[in-house]
Amino acid sequence: MKINILTLFPEFFNSFKVESIIGRAIKHEKLDINIINIRDYCFDKHKQADDTPTGGGAGMVMKPEPIFRALETCNGKNIYVSPQGIVFNQKIAIELSKEKEITIICGHYEGIDERVIEKAVDLEISVGDFVLTGGEIPAMLIADCIARMIPDVIKKESYENDSFYNGLLDCPHYTKPPEYEGLKVPEVLLSGHHKKIEEWRLKESLKRTLLRRPDILKGREFSKLEKKLMKEIENEIK
Ligand SMILES: C[S@@+](CC[C@H](N)C(=O)[O-])C[C@H]1O[C@@H](n2cnc3c(N)ncnc32)[C@H](O)[C@@H]1O
Repeated sequence: MKINILTLFPEFFNSFKVESIIGRAIKHEKLDINIINIRDYCFDKHKQADDTPTGGGAGMVMKPEPIFRALETCNGKNIYVSPQGIVFNQKIAIELSKEKEITIICGHYEGIDERVIEKAVDLEISVGDFVLTGGEIPAMLIADCIARMIPDVIKKESYENDSFYNGLLDCPHYTKPPEYEGLKVPEVLLSGHHKKIEEWRLKESLKRTLLRRPDILKGREFSKLEKKLMKEIENEIK
Protein backbone atom coordinates (compact mmCIF):
# COMPACT_ATOMS: atom_id res chain seq x y z
CA MET A 1 0.00 0.00 0.00
CA LYS A 2 1.15 3.53 -0.76
CA ILE A 3 0.41 6.44 1.57
CA ASN A 4 1.24 9.89 0.18
CA ILE A 5 1.50 12.64 2.78
CA LEU A 6 1.33 16.26 1.62
CA THR A 7 3.00 18.55 4.12
CA LEU A 8 4.84 21.84 4.55
CA PHE A 9 7.07 20.16 7.14
CA PRO A 10 8.51 16.95 5.64
CA GLU A 11 11.19 16.59 8.37
CA PHE A 12 8.41 15.66 10.82
CA PHE A 13 8.33 12.22 9.17
CA ASN A 14 12.07 11.41 9.17
CA SER A 15 12.06 9.04 12.13
CA PHE A 16 8.48 7.86 11.52
CA LYS A 17 9.64 6.29 8.24
CA VAL A 18 12.61 4.40 9.66
CA GLU A 19 11.75 3.28 13.18
CA SER A 20 10.18 0.07 14.43
CA ILE A 21 7.25 -1.63 12.66
CA ILE A 22 6.68 1.13 10.09
CA GLY A 23 10.39 1.17 9.19
CA ARG A 24 10.35 -2.62 8.78
CA ALA A 25 7.17 -2.57 6.66
CA ILE A 26 8.76 -0.02 4.32
CA LYS A 27 12.00 -2.05 4.14
CA HIS A 28 10.04 -5.20 3.27
CA GLU A 29 8.01 -3.28 0.66
CA LYS A 30 4.64 -3.88 2.31
CA LEU A 31 4.24 -0.15 2.67
CA ASP A 32 5.42 2.94 0.85
CA ILE A 33 5.22 6.27 2.66
CA ASN A 34 5.74 9.03 0.15
CA ILE A 35 6.31 12.41 1.77
CA ILE A 36 5.50 15.25 -0.59
CA ASN A 37 6.72 18.74 0.24
CA ILE A 38 3.92 21.10 -0.79
CA ARG A 39 6.52 23.86 -1.18
CA ASP A 40 8.01 21.96 -4.14
CA TYR A 41 4.77 22.84 -5.95
CA CYS A 42 4.95 26.56 -5.18
CA PHE A 43 6.19 28.09 -8.39
CA ASP A 44 6.58 31.72 -7.29
CA LYS A 45 9.97 33.20 -6.41
CA HIS A 46 9.49 32.93 -2.64
CA LYS A 47 7.84 29.49 -2.69
CA GLN A 48 4.95 30.91 -0.70
CA ALA A 49 2.50 28.18 0.35
CA ASP A 50 0.17 30.35 2.46
CA ASP A 51 -1.51 33.73 2.28
CA THR A 52 -3.72 36.03 4.32
CA PRO A 53 -7.41 35.10 4.69
CA THR A 54 -9.71 36.61 2.11
CA GLY A 55 -12.07 38.97 3.93
CA GLY A 56 -9.46 39.70 6.60
CA GLY A 57 -8.92 38.26 10.03
CA ALA A 58 -6.19 36.44 11.92
CA GLY A 59 -3.86 33.69 10.75
CA MET A 60 -2.83 32.39 7.37
CA VAL A 61 -4.50 30.00 4.95
CA MET A 62 -2.71 27.41 2.80
CA LYS A 63 -2.95 28.36 -0.85
CA PRO A 64 -4.90 26.10 -3.20
CA GLU A 65 -2.65 25.96 -6.30
CA PRO A 66 0.36 24.10 -4.75
CA ILE A 67 -1.93 21.53 -3.14
CA PHE A 68 -3.87 20.93 -6.38
CA ARG A 69 -0.57 20.55 -8.27
CA ALA A 70 0.86 18.14 -5.68
CA LEU A 71 -2.34 16.07 -5.79
CA GLU A 72 -1.88 15.57 -9.52
CA THR A 73 1.04 13.27 -8.69
CA CYS A 74 -1.15 11.08 -6.45
CA ASN A 75 -3.87 8.46 -6.99
CA GLY A 76 -6.68 7.06 -4.85
CA LYS A 77 -8.68 8.69 -2.07
CA ASN A 78 -7.64 12.12 -0.85
CA ILE A 79 -8.02 12.63 2.89
CA TYR A 80 -7.77 15.99 4.61
CA VAL A 81 -6.98 15.74 8.31
CA SER A 82 -9.15 18.30 10.04
CA PRO A 83 -10.85 18.78 13.43
CA GLN A 84 -14.08 19.14 11.42
CA GLY A 85 -13.92 15.60 9.96
CA ILE A 86 -15.41 12.30 11.09
CA VAL A 87 -13.61 11.03 14.17
CA PHE A 88 -11.02 8.37 13.32
CA ASN A 89 -11.42 4.84 14.67
CA GLN A 90 -10.27 1.27 14.08
CA LYS A 91 -13.09 0.53 11.59
CA ILE A 92 -12.00 3.42 9.37
CA ALA A 93 -8.38 2.20 9.60
CA ILE A 94 -9.39 -1.32 8.55
CA GLU A 95 -11.37 0.03 5.56
CA LEU A 96 -8.54 2.34 4.46
CA SER A 97 -5.95 -0.44 4.77
CA LYS A 98 -7.72 -2.20 1.87
CA GLU A 99 -6.91 0.70 -0.50
CA LYS A 100 -3.92 0.52 -2.85
CA GLU A 101 -3.05 4.18 -2.45
CA ILE A 102 -4.31 7.06 -0.34
CA THR A 103 -3.17 10.64 0.14
CA ILE A 104 -3.27 12.55 3.41
CA ILE A 105 -3.18 16.35 3.24
CA CYS A 106 -1.78 18.05 6.34
CA GLY A 107 -3.17 21.48 7.06
CA HIS A 108 -1.41 24.21 9.04
CA TYR A 109 -2.27 27.70 10.32
CA GLU A 110 -6.02 28.29 9.76
CA GLY A 111 -6.12 25.27 7.45
CA ILE A 112 -6.31 24.86 3.66
CA ASP A 113 -8.29 26.90 1.14
CA GLU A 114 -11.87 25.51 1.15
CA ARG A 115 -11.82 25.05 -2.64
CA VAL A 116 -9.36 22.15 -2.26
CA ILE A 117 -11.80 20.44 0.10
CA GLU A 118 -14.73 21.05 -2.28
CA LYS A 119 -12.97 19.85 -5.40
CA ALA A 120 -10.40 17.27 -4.39
CA VAL A 121 -11.02 15.88 -0.90
CA ASP A 122 -12.93 12.58 -0.57
CA LEU A 123 -12.88 12.33 3.20
CA GLU A 124 -12.14 14.63 6.14
CA ILE A 125 -10.82 12.84 9.23
CA SER A 126 -10.40 14.23 12.72
CA VAL A 127 -8.32 12.61 15.44
CA GLY A 128 -10.50 14.03 18.21
CA ASP A 129 -12.39 17.04 19.47
CA PHE A 130 -9.40 19.30 19.99
CA VAL A 131 -7.22 21.47 17.77
CA LEU A 132 -3.55 20.82 17.01
CA THR A 133 -1.08 23.18 15.34
CA GLY A 134 -0.89 21.07 12.20
CA GLY A 135 -1.96 17.90 10.40
CA GLU A 136 1.41 16.13 10.64
CA ILE A 137 0.71 14.32 13.93
CA PRO A 138 -2.81 13.27 12.80
CA ALA A 139 -1.34 12.04 9.48
CA MET A 140 1.27 9.97 11.33
CA LEU A 141 -1.33 8.62 13.71
CA ILE A 142 -3.65 7.58 10.88
CA ALA A 143 -0.85 6.13 8.73
CA ASP A 144 0.50 4.17 11.71
CA CYS A 145 -2.90 2.68 12.53
CA ILE A 146 -3.59 1.77 8.88
CA ALA A 147 -0.12 0.25 8.45
CA ARG A 148 -0.71 -2.31 11.26
CA MET A 149 -3.76 -3.57 9.37
CA ILE A 150 -1.90 -4.21 6.09
CA PRO A 151 -1.41 -7.98 5.61
CA ASP A 152 2.00 -9.23 6.81
CA VAL A 153 3.00 -5.97 8.49
CA ILE A 154 2.27 -7.59 11.86
CA LYS A 155 0.86 -11.07 12.56
CA LYS A 156 -2.95 -11.27 12.65
CA GLU A 157 -2.71 -12.96 16.10
CA SER A 158 -0.95 -9.82 17.32
CA TYR A 159 -3.78 -7.45 16.49
CA GLU A 160 -6.99 -9.49 16.45
CA ASN A 161 -7.33 -9.28 20.24
CA ASP A 162 -6.21 -5.66 20.42
CA SER A 163 -8.70 -3.14 21.77
CA PHE A 164 -11.50 -2.24 19.33
CA TYR A 165 -10.54 -4.81 16.66
CA ASN A 166 -13.35 -7.14 17.71
CA GLY A 167 -15.42 -4.55 19.51
CA LEU A 168 -13.84 -5.16 22.96
CA LEU A 169 -10.98 -3.70 24.96
CA ASP A 170 -7.89 -5.92 25.26
CA CYS A 171 -7.26 -8.03 28.37
CA PRO A 172 -4.39 -7.27 30.81
CA HIS A 173 -0.93 -8.55 29.83
CA TYR A 174 1.93 -9.84 31.97
CA THR A 175 5.48 -11.04 31.40
CA LYS A 176 8.21 -12.57 33.58
CA PRO A 177 8.94 -12.70 36.48
CA PRO A 178 5.81 -14.45 37.88
CA GLU A 179 6.19 -12.39 41.07
CA TYR A 180 7.69 -8.91 41.50
CA GLU A 181 7.91 -7.45 45.01
CA GLY A 182 4.79 -9.34 46.04
CA LEU A 183 2.86 -8.48 42.85
CA LYS A 184 1.78 -11.77 41.35
CA VAL A 185 0.77 -12.76 37.83
CA PRO A 186 -2.72 -14.36 37.83
CA GLU A 187 -2.37 -18.09 38.61
CA VAL A 188 -4.29 -19.25 35.52
CA LEU A 189 -1.66 -17.74 33.17
CA LEU A 190 0.98 -20.01 34.72
CA SER A 191 -1.20 -23.14 34.44
CA GLY A 192 -0.29 -24.02 30.83
CA HIS A 193 -4.01 -24.80 30.30
CA HIS A 194 -4.66 -23.03 26.98
CA LYS A 195 -8.46 -23.26 27.03
CA LYS A 196 -8.65 -21.83 30.55
CA ILE A 197 -6.19 -19.06 29.64
CA GLU A 198 -8.23 -18.12 26.55
CA GLU A 199 -11.43 -18.05 28.62
CA TRP A 200 -9.77 -15.89 31.32
CA ARG A 201 -8.54 -13.44 28.67
CA LEU A 202 -11.98 -13.18 27.08
CA LYS A 203 -13.60 -12.64 30.48
CA GLU A 204 -11.10 -9.91 31.39
CA SER A 205 -11.71 -8.22 28.02
CA LEU A 206 -15.47 -8.29 28.58
CA LYS A 207 -15.07 -7.01 32.15
CA ARG A 208 -12.80 -4.13 31.14
CA THR A 209 -15.09 -3.14 28.30
CA LEU A 210 -18.15 -3.24 30.55
CA LEU A 211 -16.46 -1.17 33.24
CA ARG A 212 -14.55 1.30 31.04
CA ARG A 213 -16.36 1.53 27.72
CA PRO A 214 -19.92 0.15 28.03
CA ASP A 215 -20.84 2.31 25.00
CA ILE A 216 -18.95 -0.01 22.62
CA LEU A 217 -20.87 -3.07 23.85
CA LYS A 218 -24.16 -1.64 22.56
CA GLY A 219 -25.54 -3.76 19.72
CA ARG A 220 -22.93 -6.52 20.21
CA GLU A 221 -24.08 -10.04 19.38
CA PHE A 222 -22.62 -12.01 22.29
CA SER A 223 -21.57 -15.63 21.71
CA LYS A 224 -22.88 -18.36 24.06
CA LEU A 225 -19.59 -18.30 26.00
CA GLU A 226 -19.58 -14.50 26.17
CA LYS A 227 -23.14 -14.53 27.57
CA LYS A 228 -22.08 -17.02 30.27
CA LEU A 229 -19.02 -14.92 31.15
CA MET A 230 -21.06 -11.68 31.22
CA LYS A 231 -23.42 -13.27 33.76
CA GLU A 232 -20.43 -14.23 35.94
CA ILE A 233 -19.01 -10.70 35.64
CA GLU A 234 -22.33 -9.05 36.51
CA ASN A 235 -22.57 -11.25 39.66
CA GLU A 236 -18.97 -10.42 40.60
CA ILE A 237 -19.33 -6.65 40.31
CA LYS A 238 -22.74 -6.40 42.00
C1 LIG B 1 -4.79 25.08 13.83
S1 LIG B 1 -5.51 23.83 12.87
C2 LIG B 1 -6.79 24.67 12.00
C3 LIG B 1 -8.10 24.58 12.70
C4 LIG B 1 -9.25 25.16 11.93
N1 LIG B 1 -9.15 26.60 11.84
C5 LIG B 1 -10.55 24.81 12.63
O1 LIG B 1 -10.84 25.41 13.65
O2 LIG B 1 -11.23 23.85 12.19
C6 LIG B 1 -4.32 23.52 11.62
C7 LIG B 1 -4.36 22.15 10.98
O3 LIG B 1 -4.09 21.16 11.95
C8 LIG B 1 -4.75 19.97 11.61
N2 LIG B 1 -5.55 19.55 12.77
C9 LIG B 1 -5.71 20.25 13.91
N3 LIG B 1 -6.49 19.58 14.77
C10 LIG B 1 -6.83 18.43 14.18
C11 LIG B 1 -7.63 17.32 14.57
N4 LIG B 1 -8.26 17.28 15.74
N5 LIG B 1 -7.75 16.28 13.70
C12 LIG B 1 -7.14 16.31 12.51
N6 LIG B 1 -6.38 17.34 12.08
C13 LIG B 1 -6.22 18.38 12.90
C14 LIG B 1 -5.58 20.25 10.36
O4 LIG B 1 -4.93 19.76 9.22
C15 LIG B 1 -5.68 21.76 10.35
O5 LIG B 1 -5.81 22.29 9.08
